[in-house]
Amino acid sequence: MVRMRRLRVNETMRKLVRETTVQVEDLVYPLFVAEGEDIKSEVASMPGIYQWSLDRLPEELSRIEEAGIPAILLFGIPKQKDEWGSEAYNGQGITQRAIRMIKQRMPKLLVIADVCLCEYTSHGHCGIVCGHKILNDKTLEYLARMAVSVAEAGADIIAPSDMMDGRVAYLRKALDGHGMEEKLILSYSAKFASAYYGPFREAAHSAPAFGDRKTYQMDPANGKEAIRECEADIEEGADIVMVKPGLAYLDVVKEMSLRTNVPLAVYHVSGEYAMIKAAAMQGWIDEKRIVLENLTAMKRAGAKIIITYHALEAAKWLRD
Ligand code: PBG
Ligand code: ZN
Repeated sequence: MVRMRRLRVNETMRKLVRETTVQVEDLVYPLFVAEGEDIKSEVASMPGIYQWSLDRLPEELSRIEEAGIPAILLFGIPKQKDEWGSEAYNGQGITQRAIRMIKQRMPKLLVIADVCLCEYTSHGHCGIVCGHKILNDKTLEYLARMAVSVAEAGADIIAPSDMMDGRVAYLRKALDGHGMEEKLILSYSAKFASAYYGPFREAAHSAPAFGDRKTYQMDPANGKEAIRECEADIEEGADIVMVKPGLAYLDVVKEMSLRTNVPLAVYHVSGEYAMIKAAAMQGWIDEKRIVLENLTAMKRAGAKIIITYHALEAAKWLRD
């Protein structure tokens, strides 16, 4: 008789046969930086997550350092927004100033710059708009300006999250053309038009003023198309590909992990965080166990890198 329980007899045995472990080194912590002074403003739907002004940011940076988090994903929130997202590629913009400050204080911390226009445009769409259309090829020019600008400010990794076609090749060429062939591209490759981004849009003031993002972000129903998106980005030169959101899309992560040797990232997004926090605050779930179980599931599916708002707390739990 096969007795599977022999493998579970005690914790030492369980550890010996454990297939998947989560390490602090796998985690990326998203960070919201707002223009202005003396801002530490909690996002209502994301307890424990704040918008920071640059003068208050060192407080959070110290926590990141102490936790041993290897990388942050940076989102800038400018005061001025316009139709073309000018602050996205302003060398003195909030995002660029934040990158310079962070790299100066913590040179070893990897800074991943989210490259998209939605936090910078008055209409809240991820690209250049004409009437109610989001223009693909026109948007590429502006994304490239932003990518070069944040790379020049010191970002280590460029993370396009716009979902325009051809962006990875276009950004690669722009970066190389500016002598920045060492900068990586982490592409939001399979990014679905998801209701799970709701709390983020409150945090980043980036909800679209009209329509929705369904003409550029993916239909949650399409798994095969997600594979095509990932494969296209790899072909265009992406160094790392990402699937987003996390838990509801682990089938895509798993399938990609079987198909490619490119490192995979998964984004455990704002809505997933909000649901866990809400239930935990009611005392309905064991937050620590739920979070570690979720992170383990993402790694088991094949992701190496996990972008998560739980990173600071998870780092503490993993150390204990
Ligand atoms: C910007 C962007 C979004 C997220 C990351 N980058 C929002 C969106 O596409 O509407 C979502 C992250 C999250 O929900 O945690 N394009
Ligand atoms: Zn966007």
